[in-house]
Amino acid sequence: MNGIEMNQASPLLQMQQVSIASKKMPSRLLVNRVSFSIDPGKTTCVVGESGSGKSLTALSVMGLLSKQLQLTSGKIVFNDGQSGAQDLTKLDEASLRKIRGAKIAMIFQEPMTSLNPVLTVGYQIGESLTTHLGIKGDKLKVKIASLLEMVGIPPSRANSYPDELSGGQRQRVMIAMSIACEPCLLIADEPTTALDVTVQAQILKLLDELKTRMNMGMLFITHDFGVVADIADYVVVMFRGEIVESGTKQQILNHPQHPYTKALLACVPDAEGKKPLKPIDYAWLPENQRTQQVANEISEATV
Ligand SMILES: Nc1ncnc2c1ncn2[C@@H]1O[C@H](COP(=O)(O)OP(=O)(O)OP(=O)(O)O)[C@@H](O)[C@H]1O
Ligand SMILES: [Mg+2]
Repeated sequence: MNGIEMNQASPLLQMQQVSIASKKMPSRLLVNRVSFSIDPGKTTCVVGESGSGKSLTALSVMGLLSKQLQLTSGKIVFNDGQSGAQDLTKLDEASLRKIRGAKIAMIFQEPMTSLNPVLTVGYQIGESLTTHLGIKGDKLKVKIASLLEMVGIPPSRANSYPDELSGGQRQRVMIAMSIACEPCLLIADEPTTALDVTVQAQILKLLDELKTRMNMGMLFITHDFGVVADIADYVVVMFRGEIVESGTKQQILNHPQHPYTKALLACVPDAEGKKPLKPIDYAWLPENQRTQQVANEISEATV
């Protein structure tokens, strides 16, 4: 229990004051005291521009931060309603491995780096079912076929290799892999950014259906407010490693409070295409911190 008291109604995941820095420069926080929660059956969207710390936040939940980085403070409290509340930052690698893929799964920002080119997609979908649930043989084949069907890929494609599938199909394979063990928390890091809008819409619909069917909580990272409008329950807005604003989808989309959220929303094109695209207005920041170049320089200095 790690000294955490919680009941069944508590959130599935609570990020509590989580900070991340590079080991070389621990004083410069790449993620700065980030706190938010995810409820079962609900989607929390994290939005923010490139480099704002979205992926690092997600990777910290999975215990998959790169070796050059470290968690400098905070708790990541996971409560699946069965094993009690656990601070994931206190677990050793063996305990984390049991949770990863089984109870918490992730769709990574770059799917091709997560798929093994020399193994069939069926094998890769089946791997976690065997590891975590001990499913083998014919039972495994049936389960793989049903997962492929669920994500809209003909089960006969189980014998295909990743490079024999289209980008959208590979992304669906990633989703099939991530939901295979019916995780209670799914982390999706920009899972549709590289896809065309039709495939993107299909995948968002699929994830939303799965969330409802499996009462799964979702941490969904995106920089697209159209996606937020489609699937979010709660929204967290990050800027240069910090949360500048968070709230329900309605609060954030209809009544944004922070100048950065307002600036982000002002850049979203309208349906009629009448509103011209424009860069984010950083007028609310002190003058010497306004350009993205400054943010990049600060972050490059940490690598
Ligand atoms: N291994 C690393 N070592 C040092 N700095 C890193 C490392 N990984 C990421 N960073 C820095 O941490 C910051 C946050 O990175 P992160 O990948 O979380 O951004 P992001 O919000 O996911 O951006 P994007 O939208 O481009 O994916 C960036 O400034 C990045 O340069
Ligand atoms: Mg990222």
